[in-house]
Amino acid sequence: MFGIRWNGKQFSTHVIIHYGDASVSVGHGGIDIGQGINTKVVTGGPSTSELCCLVAKEGLIEACAILKRRMSQVKAKMDHPTCHVPLKGQLTNGVYACTCESCGHFFKFRAFQDFKTSITFTVNGKEFTVETRVPVTTAEYAPATVLNTFLRRSGVSKGTKGCCYEGGCGTCLATITAYEPLLKTTMRYTVNSCLYELYSCDGTDIVTIEGLGDPTHGLHPIQERLANHDGAQCGFCSTSQVLNMYGLLKANPRPTQSLIEDHFDVTICRCTGYRSILDAMKTFAVDAPPHLKKELIDIEDLDGKLCKKTGQACTGTCHERDQLSGNCDNQISRPLYAVGATGVQWYTPTTLDMLLQLLKQHCEDNYRLVFGNTCFGVYPQYHPKMYKILIETRHIRDFYNISMGDQTLNLGANLTPQNLLDLFKEHRENPKLPYAGPFSEHMKHIAQQGVRNTACWAGNLVLKNKNFQPGFPSDLYLCFESVKALLYIYDGDNNKKVATIPEFLEMDLKGKVIGELVLPLYSSQDVFIRTYKVTLRLQNCRGYLNGALNFRLDTNKNFLVKERPTIIFGGIATNFNHAVQTEKYLTGKALGDPSVLREAFKVLSQELQPGPGFASPEYRKSLAFSFFYKYVLEVCKIKVSPEFMSGATGLMRTPIVGTQDYGTNPKIWPVTEPMPKRDAQYLTTGTARYLDDFPTPPDQLAGVPVMSTVAQGTIVTIDPTPALKMPGVVAFLQASDIPAGGVNNWRPMSLMKGKVQELLSSGPVNYAGQPIGIILAKTKGGGLKAAEAVKVTYKDVKPPIVTIEDAIKRKSFFPNPPPPKSVGDAKGAIASAPHRVSGSISCGDQFQFHLETQVVSCIKSDNGGMDVMATSQWLDGVQETVAQVLGIPESKVTVESKRIGGAFGGKITETFMVAGMTALAAKVLDVPVKMRLNLPTNMKMCGKRAAYRLDYTIGVDNDGKLLGLDVIVYADVGCEMITSDGTSIFNWIDNAYFCPNWLVTFVPLRTNKAVPASCRGPGSTPAIFFMESMMEHVARYLGKDEAVVRIKNLYKNGLTTPRGMILEYCTIRNVMGQHIAEVAYKDRRAQVYQFNKDNRWKKRGIAIMPNMFGIQWSGKQFNTEVIIHHGDASVSVGHGGIDVGQGINTKVIQVCAYEFGIPIEKIEVKKSSTTTNANSSVTGGSSTSELCCLGVIEACAILKKRMAPVKAKMDHPTWEQLVTKCFEEMVDLTASYSTHVKDPTKFHYNCYSAASVEAEIDVLTGQYQLLQMDMLYDCGDSMNPELDIGQAEGGFVMGLGYFLLEELVYDKKTGEITNASTWSYKPPMPKDLPMKFNFKFQRNRPNPIGVLGSKAVAEPALVMSAVALLAIKHAIESARADNGYTNYFALNAPATPEKIQMLCMNKVEDYTLRK
Ligand SMILES: Cc1cc2nc3c(=O)[nH]c(=O)nc-3n(C[C@H](O)[C@H](O)[C@H](O)COP(=O)(O)OP(=O)(O)OC[C@H]3O[C@@H](n4cnc5c(N)ncnc54)[C@H](O)[C@@H]3O)c2cc1C
Ligand code: FES
Ligand code: FES
Repeated sequence: MFGIRWNGKQFSTHVIIHYGDASVSVGHGGIDIGQGINTKVVTGGPSTSELCCLVAKEGLIEACAILKRRMSQVKAKMDHPTCHVPLKGQLTNGVYACTCESCGHFFKFRAFQDFKTSITFTVNGKEFTVETRVPVTTAEYAPATVLNTFLRRSGVSKGTKGCCYEGGCGTCLATITAYEPLLKTTMRYTVNSCLYELYSCDGTDIVTIEGLGDPTHGLHPIQERLANHDGAQCGFCSTSQVLNMYGLLKANPRPTQSLIEDHFDVTICRCTGYRSILDAMKTFAVDAPPHLKKELIDIEDLDGKLCKKTGQACTGTCHERDQLSGNCDNQISRPLYAVGATGVQWYTPTTLDMLLQLLKQHCEDNYRLVFGNTCFGVYPQYHPKMYKILIETRHIRDFYNISMGDQTLNLGANLTPQNLLDLFKEHRENPKLPYAGPFSEHMKHIAQQGVRNTACWAGNLVLKNKNFQPGFPSDLYLCFESVKALLYIYDGDNNKKVATIPEFLEMDLKGKVIGELVLPLYSSQDVFIRTYKVTLRLQNCRGYLNGALNFRLDTNKNFLVKERPTIIFGGIATNFNHAVQTEKYLTGKALGDPSVLREAFKVLSQELQPGPGFASPEYRKSLAFSFFYKYVLEVCKIKVSPEFMSGATGLMRTPIVGTQDYGTNPKIWPVTEPMPKRDAQYLTTGTARYLDDFPTPPDQLAGVPVMSTVAQGTIVTIDPTPALKMPGVVAFLQASDIPAGGVNNWRPMSLMKGKVQELLSSGPVNYAGQPIGIILAKTKGGGLKAAEAVKVTYKDVKPPIVTIEDAIKRKSFFPNPPPPKSVGDAKGAIASAPHRVSGSISCGDQFQFHLETQVVSCIKSDNGGMDVMATSQWLDGVQETVAQVLGIPESKVTVESKRIGGAFGGKITETFMVAGMTALAAKVLDVPVKMRLNLPTNMKMCGKRAAYRLDYTIGVDNDGKLLGLDVIVYADVGCEMITSDGTSIFNWIDNAYFCPNWLVTFVPLRTNKAVPASCRGPGSTPAIFFMESMMEHVARYLGKDEAVVRIKNLYKNGLTTPRGMILEYCTIRNVMGQHIAEVAYKDRRAQVYQFNKDNRWKKRGIAIMPNMFGIQWSGKQFNTEVIIHHGDASVSVGHGGIDVGQGINTKVIQVCAYEFGIPIEKIEVKKSSTTTNANSSVTGGSSTSELCCLGVIEACAILKKRMAPVKAKMDHPTWEQLVTKCFEEMVDLTASYSTHVKDPTKFHYNCYSAASVEAEIDVLTGQYQLLQMDMLYDCGDSMNPELDIGQAEGGFVMGLGYFLLEELVYDKKTGEITNASTWSYKPPMPKDLPMKFNFKFQRNRPNPIGVLGSKAVAEPALVMSAVALLAIKHAIESARADNGYTNYFALNAPATPEKIQMLCMNKVEDYTLRK
């Protein structure tokens, strides 16, 4: 018996409730000496130890009682006080009872099994448990955590990437096991880990890229094939491309090519142009073409190469994965209840009863149901972190019901769009389901594969409810409402209500859950259902407009409408769904009667009153007409004349076929040898590390920029107080924090010739997105929230200028524009020319869209300097910026970069800004800091491709020969004239054409936009597009074939370019001639003409263009070092370029191996650094690879010269023997060389090429597809044709994005970019590729002044994508001609479907059945 003394012991206890987030702090007078007093204080409860009872009972309980007493009066006045936070309760006779921690409320609900308070899952076979009730250590994995956060933060999978965190980029894929209702089993699915909730993973088996294979243990066949097909350039998307295929093969080990293309709508690749990725994946297709045919994969071989038991290479002798899957799958669902550190609760009920009880209990709380959790990808305001209670519905098995009776098809609420797609596809021939075919097709266009796998239809429908986003153009609403589906809706009292969908839309959903969808079965054959959707991009894109029509028709009575039809449009206006008046009008009318059609359009026109939407009101209204017209054409086809039938269907695609034709010279291999990237295997397995993948120091802070929200004004006050009060926020820095000696300028003074742009605004604000401060926080998420909370006030806020037209109108010109460039007498030549052609053409800006956003990390070095790692294309500039901002010598700053996830020019100058901010924070706070921009910040803050307009007057002779060109270049150079004044246009404006007289005037325009930055082919892309547009205009003006006019003007040897370059090795005439012959241009032009004659509503166009592209070496310095290691004679190379995905490291290795005559395996490339490769120039302009190779050649020559005397004394030594001997004889085995070429006319040589595209447009919708693309390219003796073809393809597809898809939208009032997200900014995806995609390198054309006979590639290929726009233009010309318009028009870039359709100038009066 042991006496316990309380007497005389005093403990003071404080309980503080924080008003911000209602979290609670406790301070007590005891000391936690390891006995767990703090934990017990937090958990409280009856089982506390004696000593803690003292604290709890006498202190804590009493303090809480005081507070509860004080709060009770307020609570009594409130309708529905805060949600309850249940203490761990007890299960008795199936009833779970507990008490609310905050208010003492007692509640209970029926449970069938014990609730768990932790989640367990396996990742790549290894089991993980997240203890949900241990608040401090695992607070980061609280409810509302997404899987991606767990995988990356815990370090479990660094191969799982992320970029947009909204389901739009697809770089974050993982696979999970989940219930498959059609097969009633557990299947593996690909999911977007940025959307999928961590707590939804309870009981699942997750496979990430690391679970498939790695270079040490062996690659998975998908990884291997992607690597071997050169499907990984920068590699940032590669792991997700692999996992996407893995998911597909798991579901369907025998896919067809077209299924693969349908499936590849998730992950954006900005580098490759997709062909190589698709080819790699199609090697698994049952119908793979002969050149891709490989062994199909056995289902057993699909699982990873690594044994989940041993972590070693799989020997194939055990079935560990299967056993693990069996244990961890979610076939036996267990209820889960979890409370995170902030009190957020997660419930996983497993029966409808349990769910309904929870709904009853929480109906007045801030709760949300969760299934796929994809809604916040579309509407961030529904992010799980906005809710106190999350109730997962995934495990309610009743909601997976699929039952077909006599009258109805009932579908449970948990079915995914993919489940529906599969089901409808299976029933597409079932006459009772006349909607199955159209619905299954339509569902292919809902979101992307990851979302289709994980979302449920009910969640989609809810988004359209009146209390959510009634204007959401839900594709599922459209389908279901078109057949008048019904819904079963349950409430907490177990009432089951049957509701029509319109009733559902108006319902208050609090405390309710959708249980089932009831679709009708049709007994008659007179039902005609069709659905439509027109999008900017063909894959993963919200609709401009969608529509569904359902009519019962008597086909024998001129298509008499037997009963009131259904006509629905989504995307017209928030409250517009049904075309009610048109439905009424058409009831009882004959659809085959042209006068009925005419009248119906009138009625429709009156009731369509478009509100704001994703495209202009005019376009969306005209699309609604088009849908109705297409429907009538299709269902009444027997009444439609053949040429009008082209309007009935959409564009038909066949799988993409790509060819690559090039030569190689085995005698000089490995130079010219086609081979994949050296580190391809590391990229496709996720073992390659990017900056954000490196382990972070424990005290590292996250830096988040605070950006201006106005575009023109002056800062009055900055108040960071609200932000600093937020948990985990450490500091806020502004311009005044720049240390003495440092400069508030992120433009490196010496490199940018004294140009100044403030790192953090000291007052003036010139664009929305301009950095004005930095938040430093413990986590990036916390930092982002805090950055939004910083209060900034402005004065003198003026309306922004965000377009070229506006800038010209408001005379927003920079003073002292650059002087015009003049050759000959342009004005005189034009005045005396037989013909003068004038016009204007423009092209917009473009976001570089590197999937790895800007990342910089800085750690103060112990000598007062700064060690920097940066995703930079120009380390030298980063070094100077950091030194300048901190006021320290450059020598104290070291900058390194090993690998970057795409750049495209965006990481040349813009990284300086990020580096400046990060270094400042690291210096001031004396802790390591990492700044990784999120996508919207990256898009808003950093410069993009500049927008231009060109006004021109051309003098030509009767044959179309250019006599003089007088052009004015309006360049949107943003808020300061720093990186561009428009003069770069002059370098390429002539493209491939000779003109003796030029006058080029530059008008730099000041707008309230970020100063433009490089973007692949910065000046050349608009310049060459302008020239080609002018050639088109000349040809149209003279009524001549555009190709003929082009050929007439081509350069030849001896002619001088406007820059004064006398052409010596000009082959453009030869290239163009060969291309025209090879693509059968003349025959195909005739076929296009005939097609256009035969088809009223589909039109084709074919266009061809040449390209002469000057490659600049001048002024480019790359410092290269070659080191031979004496021990094993292996070689290290360090070069000043950056491998951005273009394969520079591989080429450098090939050249080094060639120079030394050793195997490539002996050579490694080291990371670039400002120490070994100091003073190196920017990686860009397509010439870095060859210049670094030149550096290697020279450095090798130095070494070979030094080694020669030793070698001469030896008898045919091996490389190893020679190196050993040289070392013994003290030969210096390290050499470096810095390239320094000076070309007086700027360009060292030209690349010559030609390309053609045949395109087809749907005149009624403006959608297009590219039927065929051919490019003939003079790459000299390509150093590595496989990589160079990859560069050409990737460049071309990025150009397609620029010319056809990508458009930045600025708010006219605030100047902010309104589409800084993947939801509305759309780089190309696989189906944007031409269906025939043919690249050919001219053979036997060594470049006499190139490195080992090679030429550059990439940017020239990008600029040639303008030819796609021109082909589309020709198709539009044909449509306009049918509509009575033959005048010339300009097709500005980007040529979006909206622009294309509006330019066709359709008239609804022409929407008839026959002429
Ligand atoms: C990148 C991307 C592209 C997309 N593209 C398209 C597109 O082209 N067309 C289109 O139509 N949609 C599109 N969507 C929207 C997508 O279809 C919806 O986000 C999805 O269907 C929601 O389902 P979920 O299971 O993820 O719902 P969750 O996000 O889990 O929940 C959404 C809402 O529904 C509620 N909810 C869920 N289940 C039920 C239920 N049984 N009863 C009552 N309420 C419930 C939740 O409380 C929540 O409020 C896209 C989404 C993304 C992320
Ligand atoms: S990060 Fe998940 S889709 Fe972009
Ligand atoms: S390789 Fe696909 S984004 Fe770079």
